[in-house]
Amino acid sequence: MSVADLSTPLKFAYWVPNVSGGLVVSTIEQRTSWDFDYNKKLARIAEDAGFEYALSQTRYAASYGADKQHEATSFSLALLAATEKLKVIAAVHPGMWHPGVLAKYIITADHISNGRAAVNIVSGWLKDEFINFGLDWLEHDERYVRTEEFIRVLRGLWTEEGYSQAGKYYTIKDFTLSPAPVAVPGRPHPEIFFGGNSTAAQATAGRVADWYFSNGKDLEGFKDNIAGVRASAEQAGRRPRFGLNGFVIARDSEKEARDTLREIVEKAHRPAVEGFRDAVQEAGPSTKDGKGMWADSTFEDLVQYNDGFKTQLIGTPEQIAERIVEYKKIGVNLLLTCYLHFQEEVAAFGTDILPIVRELEADAARAAGVEFDPDGTLAVPSKAGV
Ligand SMILES: Cc1cc2nc3c(=O)[nH]c(=O)nc-3n(C[C@H](O)[C@H](O)[C@H](O)COP(=O)(O)O)c2cc1C
Repeated sequence: MSVADLSTPLKFAYWVPNVSGGLVVSTIEQRTSWDFDYNKKLARIAEDAGFEYALSQTRYAASYGADKQHEATSFSLALLAATEKLKVIAAVHPGMWHPGVLAKYIITADHISNGRAAVNIVSGWLKDEFINFGLDWLEHDERYVRTEEFIRVLRGLWTEEGYSQAGKYYTIKDFTLSPAPVAVPGRPHPEIFFGGNSTAAQATAGRVADWYFSNGKDLEGFKDNIAGVRASAEQAGRRPRFGLNGFVIARDSEKEARDTLREIVEKAHRPAVEGFRDAVQEAGPSTKDGKGMWADSTFEDLVQYNDGFKTQLIGTPEQIAERIVEYKKIGVNLLLTCYLHFQEEVAAFGTDILPIVRELEADAARAAGVEFDPDGTLAVPSKAGV
């Protein structure tokens, strides 16, 4: 099986800035706002610019440079209601939701939006949010045992009537959710994204996710990361697709772009970045093999807390477009982007970078002897929901 899908266009998403402080933990001047009016306008700009998805973040406590945060599922629903085409992915923690309640909520969001609701299942990074809510904070790999059961319940309730599942964390008995999600051609149910880097995360994602989201990575790092997911998926006879995070700094010259990065890092909010680094030791580095998200992240990397600088989408529009297509060639299906000034830069991405990406994608397909379908709109490969 070829690793890359060169026949269909790459998809694009942006991070919803529903958390204050933007996507960098820095005191650099930025015009991004976490409020709803800003986000509503941003969502409309993004769908006009050619973005297919938006991903909201789930955070509960004021922490690490983010003083305020809007709740992810309600915010996502409001963005769905304010847009026409954009699919909005709400981040949710299994430890904080019952999967049946979430399944029901997303069905309603799906009907309100005519089939555009999606979820990103995240197993959690901020231990204090769970402990201080009085919830169990499970040991790292055990969190993925619960996550896997959680996703199986979601999928079961979305696709079957009289669904039952007996597990360690959830027991569902003869349950039917009616209405079912909206019937969208090529989509068996609302799409299930999954974020995580550790060995346990990769294995779980391979077995149950439709989409695997990777933190920012260089080309080699991305290849390593998806190899584990792919191995697990193949054993389960599945073909999930892959998303990669990247922080985009597109400027007229490469020097200008690099200067912007330098300024972001020089003005980093040091105590917040260091506090975050200590907190996320609860994630990947706490596992037996020490692999996982942030395990090898430097201080500079963590100024964009999902390692977005590592993807190196920094330079002129041409340079960025070329790099994006390099990632496509090694298996990226969706690029998840973030920016300093979201509204302006999302619009500029659509006008300055996307057309070059489309040309380069057509070239890459031609060079590989593959037919390129510029309108390819397949939402989920047919085997993804198996
Ligand atoms: C694209 C992406 C988005 C994420 N969004 C959130 C989020 O909104 N809230 C959260 O608590 N964790 C989020 N996470 C982090 C995961 O919850 C998890 O802690 C992280 O992936 C580390 O897991 P690992 O040690 O298994 O690699 C996200 C991860 C990725 C890759």
